Amino acid sequence: MSFSTEQSDAGAFEALMLFYADAGVETLLEAHPVDRFAESQEEARKRQAARAVPPKQAGGNAGQVPHRAGQEPGRNRTEQRPAPPPVAVPQMTVPDAAAFEDARATASAANTIEELQAALERFSGCNLKHSARNTVFADGNPEARLMIIGEAPDRDEDLQGTPFAGRAGQLLDRMLAAIGLDRTSAYLTNVIFWRPPGNRPPTPHEIELCRPFAERHIELVKPEMLLFFGNVPTKALIANERGILSVRGKFQTYERPGLSIPVMPSLHPAHLLKSPAQKKLAWADLLAVSEKLGPAA
Ligand code: URA
Repeated sequence: MSFSTEQSDAGAFEALMLFYADAGVETLLEAHPVDRFAESQEEARKRQAARAVPPKQAGGNAGQVPHRAGQEPGRNRTEQRPAPPPVAVPQMTVPDAAAFEDARATASAANTIEELQAALERFSGCNLKHSARNTVFADGNPEARLMIIGEAPDRDEDLQGTPFAGRAGQLLDRMLAAIGLDRTSAYLTNVIFWRPPGNRPPTPHEIELCRPFAERHIELVKPEMLLFFGNVPTKALIANERGILSVRGKFQTYERPGLSIPVMPSLHPAHLLKSPAQKKLAWADLLAVSEKLGPAA
């Protein structure tokens, strides 16, 4: 809708603006869409053209940037300044079948937990790595009977390179203490090893690229029991398509050749921070885990 202030008085204009504000309009846009991508491409083209050194022409100094009076010829500022080094642009890739195969081959070639961590540090097939500060691998005791698998690192985990290092991790520590465990008697990791920008949910491709590493991790740790927090490990590792709220609290089985491990899917501590009323459900799940584990051997 267009509005001409010439045709209306100030009162009508104010009433219209108030109407827009009440309707939730916060930003005024132009009547026609502007292609900002084309604009920035044009800007980049102009900058590049301005940086380009004109080709030397035979005879005379045609094409050279004139030097200032008193300045040695051929030593003007533009000529002296070295070309800026090329900016390293990360190679973002759309994963294809070969990338998934590479992830599987790389993960299965690791024969120890240390080798798996080193393989992940080298692996560059997942675009999340380009925006993350750290590869977040594991924390706790790999000899523990209980292996806990979360979703993906958040800001604190990305900064410190340790899973469950932030507020959700502090709540997790209190939850573990309530059943007599801590990070010396539990082993913690995530399905995703790099922080998704802005903590957005990982995409199916990212999950698919990280899954072989998470599976190999479980295979190498061989815990007595698994505790999955949230939808990501539950859907990725036991192919349970129902939401976590409908499967939590019921033991499932993680089945792979040579492995059959009981899994408790439960609510993520980060979810409990937002919905504290559901802590009682998580508490029931933890008690079931503790009861099934029984006293330490
Ligand atoms: N959320 C997770 O799932 N994992 C972490 O390590 C931190 C927050």
